Amino acid sequence: MDADVNVLIVTEEGPIAADLLERLKSRFPRITRLHPGEVRREISRIQPDLVLLHEGPRKSELENIPLILKEIDKVEVVLLTESKDSIRVRDASRAGAFDVLFFPDEINALGDVLSRAIKSLRSGKRMDSAKGVSTWGRGQVIAFYSGKGGTGKSLVASTLAQTLQLESSSSVLLVDLNFQYGGVETFLGVDGGRSLHDLTPVLDELNDNHIRSVTVVERHSQMEVLVSPLDLSTAVNITEEHVERLLRAARLYYDYILVDVPTEMTPITYATLEEADRIFYVLNPDALSLRVLGRVLATFSSVGVDPEDRLQLVLNRVNRDSEITVKDIRHRFPYEVIAELRDDPKRVDQAVNRGKPLRTAQEDKNLGLFARDVQKLAKIIMEAGKRLHV
Ligand SMILES: Nc1ncnc2c1ncn2[C@@H]1O[C@H](COP(=O)(O)OP(=O)(O)O)[C@@H](O)[C@H]1O
Ligand SMILES: [Mg+2]
Repeated sequence: MDADVNVLIVTEEGPIAADLLERLKSRFPRITRLHPGEVRREISRIQPDLVLLHEGPRKSELENIPLILKEIDKVEVVLLTESKDSIRVRDASRAGAFDVLFFPDEINALGDVLSRAIKSLRSGKRMDSAKGVSTWGRGQVIAFYSGKGGTGKSLVASTLAQTLQLESSSSVLLVDLNFQYGGVETFLGVDGGRSLHDLTPVLDELNDNHIRSVTVVERHSQMEVLVSPLDLSTAVNITEEHVERLLRAARLYYDYILVDVPTEMTPITYATLEEADRIFYVLNPDALSLRVLGRVLATFSSVGVDPEDRLQLVLNRVNRDSEITVKDIRHRFPYEVIAELRDDPKRVDQAVNRGKPLRTAQEDKNLGLFARDVQKLAKIIMEAGKRLHV
């Protein structure tokens, strides 16, 4: 008996949980069961050594693998999948699963796989090799938000995304959730065809091919952009479920997922802010922007969005005549101003009129003020990413 091994079974389905429990209980006295949706909240409390993650035929639970590996120092995850999709198997091993078993066909091999997993845990060997893949599936979601339109959310998000894609080896996905009116396509000169709504039939089993089938590629950087649907009838059918599934799956395939979030506090906005690792709040250096920020923070606290350790301020359109300084902001709000981006109407308008992004090349000696300031912000993000991944 492996009395000291703490086993966690993750499945949506009661009968499957009961069956697994029956098979394992004589060998492992310590077994807990969770629903997939509870993993995020409960995993660090349970501290399992082995996780059996079950997924149905048309429902991917892969996003839970990097989450578990991130929270628990020493753990092995075995995926029991009812999907016969080879992409799923590839992704599970990239995400750091110890092994994948087809369920129920290969269930008789479970005992053997668990013995190997325990051996690997005890030798501590695999933990070192697992480090090699540990950056996979840990994509960072950065939400761009503002309580006021016209502060530069779309311009900042698209220029930063383009800069990250051009200046690092990371892959970037830019998502525009401003349905109906869009925004980022203006600053990137891309034309959208498909949208998030087209993913509806495959929402529960999203992989990189699905996502790529609805994105457009910016031609200078090869960055992928998911533009918003332009017709209202499509837009109204996009739900927070679409957004949640997209962002969770995208973490597996992209290093940075930048999301241009609408100003109105809809379920979609809420879901995005909840999912985000960082929230970049874009504001202008004027009194109105500060007042709106105060109101937004009150709204966050009443709807339950926690800004702690996530919210940073991006001060945009700074110039000599700015009414408000960083010092004034510090005085009033306990959030870091992570960037000051200068007002650069000449270069920004020129780029928009030409239908070209502000950044088109990896090296550009003739960057305008705004693009240079965004470059500094990109460097801060890339440095933080490196620290996370050592
Ligand atoms: N730093 C800047 N310098 C010059 N123009 C800017 C700057 N930031 C934003 N703008 C302009 O302000 C307008 C609103 O920006 P946009 O990104 O569309 O705002 P939002 O998405 O927050 O509504 C656009 O015309 C944009 O070109
Ligand atoms: Mg916008």
